[in-house]
Amino acid sequence: MNSSSAGNTPRLRSRDWFGKRDRWGLGHRAWLRAEGFSELVFEGKPVIGICNSWSELNNCNAHLRQVAEAVKRGVWEAGGFPLEFCTISLGEMLMKPTTMLYRNLMAMEVEECLRAYPLDGVVLLCGCDKTTPAQLMGAASADIPALMVPGGPMLRGMWRGREIGSGTDVRRFWDEVRAGRMTEEEWCEIESCVSRSSGHCTVMGTASTMACLAEALGMTLPGCADIPAVDSRRLAMAEESGRRMVAMVAEGLRPSRMLTPQALENAIRVDMAIGGSTNAIVHLVALAGRVGLDLPLSRFDEISRVTPVIANLKPSGEFLMEDFYYAGGLPAVMKEISPLLHLDALTANGKTLGENIARAGCFNRNVIKTLGQPLRPEGGTVILKGNLAPQGAVLKQSAASPHLLRHKGRAVVFENAEDLIARIDDAQLEVDENSILVLKNAGPKGAPGMPEWGHLPIPAKLLKAGVKDMVRLSDARISGTSFGTIVVHIAPESAVGGPLAAVKNGDWIELDVPSRRLELLITDAELNNRLAAWQPPAPHYERGYGKMFLEHVLQAHEGCDFDFLRGASRGEAADPLKRFPNPAV
Ligand code: FES
Repeated sequence: MNSSSAGNTPRLRSRDWFGKRDRWGLGHRAWLRAEGFSELVFEGKPVIGICNSWSELNNCNAHLRQVAEAVKRGVWEAGGFPLEFCTISLGEMLMKPTTMLYRNLMAMEVEECLRAYPLDGVVLLCGCDKTTPAQLMGAASADIPALMVPGGPMLRGMWRGREIGSGTDVRRFWDEVRAGRMTEEEWCEIESCVSRSSGHCTVMGTASTMACLAEALGMTLPGCADIPAVDSRRLAMAEESGRRMVAMVAEGLRPSRMLTPQALENAIRVDMAIGGSTNAIVHLVALAGRVGLDLPLSRFDEISRVTPVIANLKPSGEFLMEDFYYAGGLPAVMKEISPLLHLDALTANGKTLGENIARAGCFNRNVIKTLGQPLRPEGGTVILKGNLAPQGAVLKQSAASPHLLRHKGRAVVFENAEDLIARIDDAQLEVDENSILVLKNAGPKGAPGMPEWGHLPIPAKLLKAGVKDMVRLSDARISGTSFGTIVVHIAPESAVGGPLAAVKNGDWIELDVPSRRLELLITDAELNNRLAAWQPPAPHYERGYGKMFLEHVLQAHEGCDFDFLRGASRGEAADPLKRFPNPAV
């Protein structure tokens, strides 16, 4: 955004639409006045977009119309002109094959709406897993002043006096059903108990993680990430965010001033300290790419080794997001790990991260531990490498079984998801608790969209025998709510000829998390011979968005963004009417 000649106040983009007395200026004003606005709204008020991912197809975001109204109150009160618009919404439960197939589409839609419309700033309303990174990526690329208001977690699940966390506990119960230890009646009861309100999942899954990382990046107001969706303070925070957005426009506070290398490192630190979702790694790498920064997986591991997990939240720990908020939430976590953070990073309220957390307090040490007595001595997630994952793989060690973190076992290979479904519960399947379950063709191109299929089910016959965890490997992702010794994001994926494609039934595989190794125990010559004979699978799409996705999606270690979307904005959003002027008459 350019500065005006009169001082440091940035020129309003919207004046290029509404500030002219010519035919186009009249048209821009007159057509918007069809919505009932008076001429006063065009007298130099900054236009604040409210980018809403509300949808009835996405229960996690179903309350965001109400949140938008609160944002509008704040915008009007601060002298702005709010205009709400909707984009595609990515509902994790209903959208198939996976929302990850559409994260980049939503990011593109957000970016192009911010660029093409007369917006001086934007408040981003998100919630469910991919809506948050998609909006962050789009806003980073458009680079107009932007502030995020995540929708917050839903109320905790309650069943027969027990607290249940979305995803995490449902998976445990399903294993109990498959093992014959839970009745059909009990299973049906849970359906009405697990999701008791709008809002995102109640554990430290991907949605909670990404909301926390948005705050750690400085892209929300302080204390915004974890307020429950239905808590009145969520709406008060939304109102305040609307007010603040008007000031951010006046200050020219754009994402490029906040999304610095220091802010990204803060986000990685926080991710490790909260036992965040493995998905956060893909999203942060993609976001870094949008501001022209390279974020290698090795940096995540370096930070993980020296950042303990201190948030005692499912799936790594015991508690739920409501407990986290009441215990002091993310500000309390950041205060505790403040010696490890870049405290001078600029945030959306115009203050530094250090200023924001200076008075944060912890009110429940069972939920938020200390650096001296953490939940786990290292960060939640590790990066593995080896001949099976030359470009890296990811494992959430905080939710894994300690006895499996060093493990050697024989591969039981499933060629794709259909093969897995067909054979996993076959009584004849040759598998025991020491086997390593391997799923191929579940990566960005192979599945397509890298679905959350990496939480391979434990074979029913082993569940019945009391087996609770096994080592599982794939080029897929897992839900942030998942638990177990599960290696995911193996790169390059099998569908592009990564070494995973060469694994055969009965091969020995070695996982060594302390030394960060993942090895297929065959000779280099044998591996090369197998890969030379490998044939790529047929592409899933011949036309449309799917074809574009397959042609341009990057691998997991590169963030699964499209190759043509990486790179910092060069101010394209600032002056669309100067670059592409309306005809003079
Ligand atoms: Fe939306 Fe879990 S399904 S956050």
